[in-house]
Amino acid sequence: AADTRYEAEGAKLSQAAVATNHTGYSGTGFVDYTNVAGSSVEFTVNATAAGNALAIRYANGTTTERPLDISVNGTVVASGVPFGSTGSWDTWATKTIGAQLPAGTSTVRATATTADGGPNLDYLDT
Ligand code: GCU
Repeated sequence: AADTRYEAEGAKLSQAAVATNHTGYSGTGFVDYTNVAGSSVEFTVNATAAGNALAIRYANGTTTERPLDISVNGTVVASGVPFGSTGSWDTWATKTIGAQLPAGTSTVRATATTADGGPNLDYLDT
């Protein structure tokens, strides 16, 4: 269940920038990863109880997957998660990650693993 929504434009960005040049995003924008491996978006999240799954809303207007490594508190919990084409940069989809959060405050980082960088990121639901 979506307990809390964390907008990507409020996250800590490394080699990524807030953008608004496509439609359909939630909040005030989305994050556009630089097209480089290692670019990342880090959310600081708070879980009232352990066991929350993660869901990421994204867009990928190319036909090539944009894999992300998902780490929780510095440990990769889901490696090379494929974020496939959504058909257009204006079309968003949600991917659920089979990872869990401990209770309390955690960091959730999504790091691009290829030279294409990540997909555009709209938000993380915990
Ligand atoms: C285009 C698109 C961006 C996207 C980028 C990419 O420039 O407008 O929103 O992030 O492609 O390939 O990553």
